[in-house]
Amino acid sequence: MVLRPLARDDEDEFLRLVAANTELHHPWVSLPATPEAFRDYVARYEKPDEESLLICLRETGEIVGLANISSIVRGRFQNGSLSYAAFTSGRGYMTEGVGLVLRYAFEKLRLHRIDAQIQPGNRASLRLVERLGFRKEGYSPELLYIDGAWRDHERWAVTAGMLGVEAKPHPTLPAH
Ligand SMILES: CC(C)(COP(=O)(O)OP(=O)(O)OC[C@H]1O[C@@H](n2cnc3c(N)ncnc32)[C@H](O)[C@@H]1OP(=O)(O)O)[C@@H](O)C(=O)NCCC(=O)NCCS
Repeated sequence: MVLRPLARDDEDEFLRLVAANTELHHPWVSLPATPEAFRDYVARYEKPDEESLLICLRETGEIVGLANISSIVRGRFQNGSLSYAAFTSGRGYMTEGVGLVLRYAFEKLRLHRIDAQIQPGNRASLRLVERLGFRKEGYSPELLYIDGAWRDHERWAVTAGMLGVEAKPHPTLPAH
């Protein structure tokens, strides 16, 4: 698997993949489904505190999933929020791809912690974060507005230390 940033040139393929996976994604995620929404989405992830990464097969370049690191906060927090969606599911691609995203977040972005908010009924997503070494930190009623309502979410997170990553501290981390 390889990662690459989502780019404007991906529009046609991305919209095709979103249309082909509406059943898998509903009601958990809502990805851009029109050219206008796609362009807004790419523009959002061109900002420095947001990253959108495509998970691709190394040999063919086929896009099999998407993972975003949003709301990156530096300073004493060094935290980002993870979200993801498969375009090819049930083959282990997301486990490996999101694992790479975590290494990228900890080694290259030098974040300390990645969190993921997951609805209790989203069994596939809960299994994914458990496989990747996240720990459950808590439960927040009415945390996020998803599919037309404020939904309760479990809060999961993983730190660089939990995965044994030792990266140089980010320059914005205070000395003490
Ligand atoms: C959440 C989501 C990304 C998980 O994707 P996934 O396909 O289960 O994850 P993987 O690609 O790693 O596949 C792992 C599954 O494939 C199975 N599998 C089959 N063949 C495999 C192989 N050769 N190697 C590894 N796993 C294999 C695994 O057993 C596992 O199934 P299990 O969880 O039932 O045990 C996907 O369900 C999705 O896109 N959901 C909608 C969007 C969503 O919910 N996003 C998160 C919002 S919080």
